[in-house]
Amino acid sequence: MEAATKLRGDYGTAGEDYAVDQHWSDYSEEEHALWRRLHQRQTALLPGYACDAYRESLARLDCSAGIPKFEDTNRALKRASGWSLVAVPGLIPDLVFFKHLSERRFPVTRWLRRPEEFDYIVEPDVFHDFFGHVPMLFDPAFADYMQAYGLGGLKAARLDSLKILARLYWYTVEFGLLRTARGPRIYGAGILSSGGEVLHAIDSPHPRRLMFRLERVMRTDYRIDRFQDTYFVIESFERLVSDTACDFAPIYERLRAQPAIAPDEAVQGDIAAVPDS
Ligand code: PHE
Ligand code: FE
Repeated sequence: MEAATKLRGDYGTAGEDYAVDQHWSDYSEEEHALWRRLHQRQTALLPGYACDAYRESLARLDCSAGIPKFEDTNRALKRASGWSLVAVPGLIPDLVFFKHLSERRFPVTRWLRRPEEFDYIVEPDVFHDFFGHVPMLFDPAFADYMQAYGLGGLKAARLDSLKILARLYWYTVEFGLLRTARGPRIYGAGILSSGGEVLHAIDSPHPRRLMFRLERVMRTDYRIDRFQDTYFVIESFERLVSDTACDFAPIYERLRAQPAIAPDEAVQGDIAAVPDS
């Protein structure tokens, strides 16, 4: 992989599927202490902000004491939704990532950020991957969505449409909100693992919070270097699964001919999210 030299992480022992041993006993006491601080800060923020499915699974996971052993998590996760975690050195090629998802395996980066990256990190580390993503994998509908996404990724690659599909991942798996009677709640891992974006996503008057519409999302560019300007709100995880079950091939065809929507742009047909009743 030509990017490997620029990525953090040790790719030396990674095979074709990029899976490596987690080497849990190699984490230092400082790393476990940093994890505890990250975990504590983040869980304190979540009541009233994260969706119930996430909060319940996080509580059940009980990973506050230090960097978790993926092996331990796998026993419970396999039973709950048929998913398992595989340790990886860091970012992996798209196709390898999709293949794992399509077989209900979630790749989790093994290294933890440095103390000076407490508030912000560019590349996903074990805190983002585990704390942000893993609790949602316990939800049966969301778990199905993730597998469908993996299969969809393999298909999008064949159709040369990864850029369009990636927007769907970004605005759901990473930055998605869920509609509830008490207002929007977070299920996106990029928000849930961020010290600042939890409040921004829910309380700030600045960003748009729009009802999820598949093609609107797939047309919308995103920025990876700042809080989001637009969030999309789903009705339920079951609806997310059914809204994305159609064949994307004609959508890719159509969208290729259309200009992208800017991250902060409003378009005709947008519906602001209001609490359901
Ligand atoms: N239905 C999509 C397709 O035909 C696959 C997919 C499902 C992609 C769910 C993303 C999420 O390509
Ligand atoms: Fe992520």
